[in-house]
Amino acid sequence: MTVPASVSDYRRLARRRVPRVLFDYVDGGAYNELTLAANRDDLDALKLHQRVLRGTSDVDTATTLFGERLAQPVILGPVGLAGLYARRGETQAARAAKAAGVPFCLSTVSICSMEEVAAVGAAPFWFQLYVIRDRGYAIELLARARAAGCTTLVFTVDLPVFATRYRDIRNSMTGGGNWRDRLRKNIEIARHVDWLLDVPLGGGPLTFGNLAQAMPSARNLGAMKGWVDAQIDPAITWRDLGWLREHWSGPIVIKGVLDVDDARAAADIGASGLVVSNHGGRQLDGAPSAISVLPRVVDAVGDKLEVLMDGGVRGGQDVAKALARGAKAVMLGRAWAYGLAARGGQGVAEILDLFRRELTVTMTLLGAARVSDIGNDALDR
Ligand SMILES: Cc1cc2nc3c(=O)[nH]c(=O)nc-3n(C[C@H](O)[C@H](O)[C@H](O)COP(=O)(O)O)c2cc1C
Repeated sequence: MTVPASVSDYRRLARRRVPRVLFDYVDGGAYNELTLAANRDDLDALKLHQRVLRGTSDVDTATTLFGERLAQPVILGPVGLAGLYARRGETQAARAAKAAGVPFCLSTVSICSMEEVAAVGAAPFWFQLYVIRDRGYAIELLARARAAGCTTLVFTVDLPVFATRYRDIRNSMTGGGNWRDRLRKNIEIARHVDWLLDVPLGGGPLTFGNLAQAMPSARNLGAMKGWVDAQIDPAITWRDLGWLREHWSGPIVIKGVLDVDDARAAADIGASGLVVSNHGGRQLDGAPSAISVLPRVVDAVGDKLEVLMDGGVRGGQDVAKALARGAKAVMLGRAWAYGLAARGGQGVAEILDLFRRELTVTMTLLGAARVSDIGNDALDR
């Protein structure tokens, strides 16, 4: 394949370019991957409602979210370890997002630190925080994010524990396995020469950039992962979130909501938005798809919060379907990660261009000149 046309083409290129352990880490989901599949299946099952002769000659994909203008209703969502897929990967993705006029959201567990990403002029620049036990360190991260120019805080609540991903175990992603497994893994990694030259040889240091100060003695990802695992806090409740509001004056977006009462709780703590998400099928396997839950959540809190969704979004038609079901915008996870793994920052730029072009065509065929024109009637029933 010389010219990738769709997100699945970038996925195929990514599979070739990066070692299998990394491809499976981004591509896979929890346990039997039922929720991972449901995210796609339920989007595919929705049918769009074609309209004709509506004079849609000047389609505009722009929208406004938390006071910021977006060239299209798309955000590069938090993807941990993205810097393993291309040299200083998060900086490359942030540059592509800025050029395309959409926000880049940096994960807590990124390779590049927020300061490194800020230095390339990321804007709009969002930061994602996990629920970590060391409250003092969390508050420090918030202060750093503010100083780095982050406007919006995404607080991810659907990871009180790490779900198992069978693919990662089979690939000895987190160590484990016997010497034969490790040898096989290292031989497989050594076969990916382009990636080896780009990332481990050319793109160091490969550590959790945001967390390095919390664990000065940990010199590599393996050592740091122990700290991260121990920091995940399953005891926190909605009542404990006052400190978050105290230390972050900008918009707070709660990510990982699939329940109407949880959505109301997010509104009650003063969040500005939420993301209907099952973490891309990487946590509760058997949970419903994000697109199927979205309308219920919009009905319950859509007048109080900006409701976003993610999970399975792979093109402009999917964006239109999410908007038709009431989302204000969508987050991309794997779609941009495949682009990064396939072709670095250029790949992310191409993915964002692909989304914009596909959304423009889809809006034209729906007879919707503006993003706000995409309502429930854009779906065929
Ligand atoms: C490799 C990978 C790493 C991720 N890391 C994070 C993370 O650090 N923080 C977070 O809130 N979500 C994380 N997510 C979830 C994404 O933000 C998003 O919810 C999900 O990928 C959406 O589904 P999609 O990949 O089908 O678009 C990750 C997802 C993937 C695929």
